[in-house]
Amino acid sequence: MSEAQTSFTPRVFSGIQPSGGLTLGNYLGAMRRFVQWQDRGQQEGFETIFCMVDLHAITVWQDPDALRRQTRELAAGYIASGLDPAKSILFNQSQVPEHAQLAWIFNCVARMGWMQRMTQWKDKAGKNTQNASLGLFAYPALMAADILIYHATHVPVGEDQKQHVELTRDIAAKFNHDYKVDFFPETEPVIEGAATRVMSLRDGSKKMSKSDPSDMARINMTDDADTIANKIRKARTDPDALPSEAEGLEGRAEARNLVNIYAALCDSDIASVLKDVGGRQFSEFKPMLADLAVEKLSPISSEMSRLMETPDEIDRILGLGADRARAIAAPILARTYEIVGMIKS
Ligand code: TYM
Repeated sequence: MSEAQTSFTPRVFSGIQPSGGLTLGNYLGAMRRFVQWQDRGQQEGFETIFCMVDLHAITVWQDPDALRRQTRELAAGYIASGLDPAKSILFNQSQVPEHAQLAWIFNCVARMGWMQRMTQWKDKAGKNTQNASLGLFAYPALMAADILIYHATHVPVGEDQKQHVELTRDIAAKFNHDYKVDFFPETEPVIEGAATRVMSLRDGSKKMSKSDPSDMARINMTDDADTIANKIRKARTDPDALPSEAEGLEGRAEARNLVNIYAALCDSDIASVLKDVGGRQFSEFKPMLADLAVEKLSPISSEMSRLMETPDEIDRILGLGADRARAIAAPILARTYEIVGMIKS
């Protein structure tokens, strides 16, 4: 792995919001890649840390019971996808108060103008910015704290989070510059693989998202086989047959998305998939995609349901993960306070 800065030990961190059900986009763009990083971490001897970012989730209203359930469900999704609490640190953000503490320092480092440029802020706040929570505006500073409280050097995310990870680099650089230290690493966003941007099944120009008002636009990790098949059957496409080469998908966003999902699910790429399926109509290709999706996703969703039957066990795993996370975070926060000039008796 390439190192962000030579003086920092490689360490991987990423997170997902428990703000709704998990989608195929989260799975292909993030979770599945977390598992690959975990395995690499085991082989190469670096730490991998994965978080359920519940403090981020409440930047928009969350019903408390739903938030608890979604946090456990996300933990179950992590584990069912192959993250192993013995190999990676798994925990929910609010159990490690150092995230919020460092975020405050970063609120004082980051500039209003930087935050105003964030596309996620613009999208989520919409026209009514006066009514958005202050937390939603400060969201990227908390995200920077999530990453930098572990001196993480590599952050695997989907395409939509690139700007936030780049802002994290800016915050680290400004902190280091203002306090004349080389304390925080300049983290790399790691955006790689076939599925860094899985699109809506209803509109190929929009990202597949848990907050899309139409459930038909996404595949949820908890959807059963019939629902998955039905959503793929109804997915928007065009009337043409599939091309044999990737260039033939130009200007065909929906077709490209379905081929891309297929490629990601079978660990292949668009060119190889098109070699096999080029010339077929969607009436033939959609059932192939549905079968593949069900084959890959149903073991995960049944394992998630099994894990959800023992919520205490999930809470126990998260508690142990939080202890391990704090052991790394606490000294980094203590040193940050010292650098900033806070007195400690
Ligand atoms: P969130 O919860 O929206 O999404 C979690 C991860 O899933 C990826 N993702 C997608 N990838 C491909 N196609 C899609 N349609 C798709 N939808 C979501 C996201 O890119 C992300 O990697 N701000 C973050 C959570 C966060 C975080 C962090 C991430 C908080 N602190 C620190 C990394 C490091 C978010 O809202 O992700």
